[in-house]
Amino acid sequence: MTSVLDTPHLVAGENDGGEIELRSDTFTLPTPAMLEAAANAPLGDDVYGEDPTVAKLERLAANLLGKAAGCLMPSGTMANLAALLAHCPRGGKAIVGHESDLYVYEAGGASMCGGIVYEPLANLPDGTISLEDIAEACTVDRTDPQIAPPALVSLETPQNRCGGLPLQLDYLAEVAQLTRSHGVALHLDGARIFNASVALGITPAEIAFYADTVQICLSKGLCAPIGSVLVGDRAIIAQARRMRKMLGGGMRQAGMIAACGIIALTEMTGRLAEDHEKAARLARGLARLPGVRLNPGPPITNMVFFRVRDERYTTRSFIAAARRRGVRVEELGHGRIRAVTHAGVSTDAVDRAIGVFADLLAPTGR
Ligand SMILES: Cc1ncc(COP(=O)(O)O)c(C=O)c1O
Repeated sequence: MTSVLDTPHLVAGENDGGEIELRSDTFTLPTPAMLEAAANAPLGDDVYGEDPTVAKLERLAANLLGKAAGCLMPSGTMANLAALLAHCPRGGKAIVGHESDLYVYEAGGASMCGGIVYEPLANLPDGTISLEDIAEACTVDRTDPQIAPPALVSLETPQNRCGGLPLQLDYLAEVAQLTRSHGVALHLDGARIFNASVALGITPAEIAFYADTVQICLSKGLCAPIGSVLVGDRAIIAQARRMRKMLGGGMRQAGMIAACGIIALTEMTGRLAEDHEKAARLARGLARLPGVRLNPGPPITNMVFFRVRDERYTTRSFIAAARRRGVRVEELGHGRIRAVTHAGVSTDAVDRAIGVFADLLAPTGR
């Protein structure tokens, strides 16, 4: 295991085992600037609302996303859950994508903690949910006592399990129009919203504009060790703050975490384009290999999805063989392999990973 204190010279995310870590951008390590900021942050008790560094981060995130207020959360999972609990009554319906992180990977929290009914709708390959499906799910007779009333639609951008594709603004505008007309809230899981904004060449506020609440992760490609911020209007954020406390996410001297988050938002968003270039490079390298079937189209953000069609391997055995050669990738459902580029993966490491995949798939490889 890498200790960032022992090895402050390391590139964030690069580990000391010589492995090339492509499983996720969540493996990135805090940068030296973050560690310094955490050590020197002015602190207070944030459950009393008295940690100045947390307050500064929350204001910064809200401003960047064009919202009135923000609330620091320990994780993206808790930010999504607090948002759903704040928007939806018990017995209300949360309309979600069947490939969304919120639905697939967050342990059914809204049902467990809030008595909320998930209605999963099909995500299309571009990460959207069809407007017709959303309209149908929102159109119910609210006077019918048999019906769980829809309270919220949640979208994810970039949509991780749909190739890391960012949702287009005109689509968000159409969904927002729909949800408003039905009196249903729109939540955006923007765990990697800065990747989406870089890929689309627009500001994160332009994306967030359409949503009532947005959760952003500091701990993915932006390299902070911990934390997400949920943003929205003051009333909904006040309610989400109450939910955070109920969930055990009220933290005391959280300024140490927030200090890293401030660096993430002020110094780390500018470099995400590099990650996208590295993903494109990796995809170009993979496309040349026999037996590799890439997701159609070039990667738009920092994720490359591919399948291996080679009778010598199952998906699992290919991943295991790559691991033995020092390259970590993972399966992300349906036999798809995901490789994610980030600050801990240099261009040279991308080329070495392509070399390992090429060796494994060569006629004599394995
Ligand atoms: C799109 C998306 N949303 C939410 C989360 C949850 O974030 P966390 O791991 O901080 O709980 C993740 C985690 O990878 C994610 O990819």
